[in-house]
Amino acid sequence: MKLFVDSASVEAIEALMPLRIIDGVTTNPSLLGREAGDPHDTLRRICRVVGGPVSAEVVATDVDGMLEEGRRLADLDEHIVVKVPFGKAGVAACAALAADGIRVNVTLVFSASQALLAAKVGATFVSPFVGRIDDLATAGMDLIGQIVEIYENYDFTTSVLVASVRGPLHVVEAARLGADACTCPPKVIDALFGHPLTDIGLERFLADWNKTRGGGA
Ligand code: G3P
Repeated sequence: MKLFVDSASVEAIEALMPLRIIDGVTTNPSLLGREAGDPHDTLRRICRVVGGPVSAEVVATDVDGMLEEGRRLADLDEHIVVKVPFGKAGVAACAALAADGIRVNVTLVFSASQALLAAKVGATFVSPFVGRIDDLATAGMDLIGQIVEIYENYDFTTSVLVASVRGPLHVVEAARLGADACTCPPKVIDALFGHPLTDIGLERFLADWNKTRGGGA
């Protein structure tokens, strides 16, 4: 399963790259709006740092506006994937952009029917928001299982990109269900590393070593 960073912070992304576990980045208007400087410049810098798919979202809400903005975003860098919000305009824009060979990530997906439509118009990625479904006391991960099943039934090539990830359990469940990718805020990626028994175990190994062979013996 591919691991993406859900962030528009060049510094946060740069800090994760040496781990060699990051395959791409997703941004959205909320994340990009928080960063200082020109958003297009930030996106170009992220593309250079990651060298993999970087989702950049349109803010237009009509088809023509999405197409114009999407093409401008795609021109920024070869790694840009144009993100469009799900809806009739988003679906039409996805079809047109995909026909031009531009990769599209259909976002704000909350149902299997929406994911089916996104795949039919050639989305490269579909982004179901599991955390926001959980927030409504409904199991967000159930949706991932449904989408994976539907895509397998028809050999759709659209990748399931699990989004709105709130913790390591979402990542593990995404991998168990066969999702293609999972996009995580940096703090969730950090949490994937942690286990108290690893820390305690290392502490014990080092203490034992220092007792026996340590101190230059
Ligand atoms: O990139 C979109 C998505 O991951 C947003 O997550 O935490 O705002 O629901 P969240």
